Amino acid sequence: MIVTIRQETEADYSAVFKLTEEAFRTLEISDHQEQFLVERLRTSNSFIPELSMVACTSDGKIVGHILLTKIKIKGEGQSHESLVLAPISVLPEFQNQGIGSKLIEAAHKKAKEMGFGSVVLVGHENYYPRFGYELCSKYEINMPIEAPEINCMVKELLPGALRGVSGTVVFDPAFGA
Ligand SMILES: CC(C)(COP(=O)(O)OP(=O)(O)OC[C@H]1O[C@@H](n2cnc3c(N)ncnc32)[C@H](O)[C@@H]1OP(=O)(O)O)[C@@H](O)C(=O)NCCC(=O)NCCS
Repeated sequence: MIVTIRQETEADYSAVFKLTEEAFRTLEISDHQEQFLVERLRTSNSFIPELSMVACTSDGKIVGHILLTKIKIKGEGQSHESLVLAPISVLPEFQNQGIGSKLIEAAHKKAKEMGFGSVVLVGHENYYPRFGYELCSKYEINMPIEAPEINCMVKELLPGALRGVSGTVVFDPAFGA
């Protein structure tokens, strides 16, 4: 199946709402509110339109979405700008076909081009390491939420971007964290 990745437009909002709801519907660790999180993030100061991307089939169906928004990593006397990957959704019937991977690679590429040096996330320990994510604990970066250490990950998009960076992640208030 040919799937292309492009920047989300306003015309995609309702499809993205539905696919996010659908992707998380049966997930036990979910509060099933991720579709509303996407809406809040779009109107927040942390939103970067270029980093809200959709996956489309050749007939124009939106089957996946990824969102990277701005965060800060705040430590003693330092505040470092970074990104958080959340959420990512692929319609259940299109999962396990490489679409999530394509979305992640495309979002990383765009973020890097825009000069962002790193991305953090809270996610599954078996999925994200393949994209270069490492444990936050390696960098002494803490998440402001209670999550197992193994699920708190960070990736350098630009080599050395996290050199000397440590502290606590500060999410946009839209996350409610
Ligand atoms: C997670 C998700 C975006 C991955 O997209 P995808 O297109 O199915 O993923 P890909 O086809 O690129 O990769 C498939 C691999 O991911 C693994 N995978 C899929 N969903 C996973 C999950 N929730 N946790 C861990 N691994 C997962 C598959 O087992 C498969 O592993 P393998 O390559 O070792 O066989 C998609 O499954 C999804 O929307 N899930 C529901 C929402 C969700 O969990 N989002 C992430 C939390 S923010």
